[in-house]
Amino acid sequence: MRSIDYDTEQHQDYARGRALTQQQLQVWIGAFAEALPERRPLAGLDVGSGTGRFTPALAGAFGPVVGVEPSDRMREVAQTRSPHPGVRYLPGTAEEMPVPSDSADYALLGWSWHHVQDKPRAVRELARVLRTGGRLLLRTNFSDHHPRPWWLEYFRRGYEADAAIFQPLHEVIALFTSAGWRVTGFGTVTESSAGTRGEMLARLRLRTLSFFAQLSPDELQTGFDRLEQAVAADPDAPAPEFAEPLLTLELC
Ligand SMILES: C[S@@+](CC[C@H](N)C(=O)[O-])C[C@H]1O[C@@H](n2cnc3c(N)ncnc32)[C@H](O)[C@@H]1O
Repeated sequence: MRSIDYDTEQHQDYARGRALTQQQLQVWIGAFAEALPERRPLAGLDVGSGTGRFTPALAGAFGPVVGVEPSDRMREVAQTRSPHPGVRYLPGTAEEMPVPSDSADYALLGWSWHHVQDKPRAVRELARVLRTGGRLLLRTNFSDHHPRPWWLEYFRRGYEADAAIFQPLHEVIALFTSAGWRVTGFGTVTESSAGTRGEMLARLRLRTLSFFAQLSPDELQTGFDRLEQAVAADPDAPAPEFAEPLLTLELC
């Protein structure tokens, strides 16, 4: 995939382009709660925390969270938009986290795994920072378990280009299980509607998805023209619900 430098692109628009409704956020927190131990507080890591879309909600639900994020600009937005007494945002990557060994009960890798360059190193680093029995919430797509959002079909090569960003499920599982992890769950989480199709189109126009960086200017133009035409027919229709994969693992 063409890699994204969030310090030079996307950081200005990410929070708006990827905004979640309160209802959608609660669906995710509920799904994460099901995969985590019941005791509270839990010490959490939000790895690739971006603009802090999830970090304060994780702190509110489970306990103190460190948001680890390599992009200075994304961290600045997070600190400004999403301050929370239970959250600290620190510079770092999944491969190298500025936190002590055995210090966390769980880590969320939310929509960030496909950006991790050295995945075997990240698997080892996650094992270092989590305690034995620690949980990993891996919210990512897989090339062979790939969601089809309603708007993707309007982009030529859309599904193939999007799926190619991700690894197949068995490859991700093998990486972790060969390094001392066990799978505790795999399924999909259904987000409620993101609003109307018109609102969704306005967010998509901000292009805060890695997918858009994979297309040529011509593919982008044609795709957005087709999508705009389709949405114009009924802009107030609700955007359909959307199911996305969640893989959960435990450090043995
Ligand atoms: C699509 S955003 C997701 C942000 C946030 N988790 C969310 O759901 O809104 C991907 C984030 O991963 C970060 N990232 C890039 N490389 C990374 C790495 N090696 N380790 C951790 N995060 C990384 C990016 O800077 C970016 O903020």
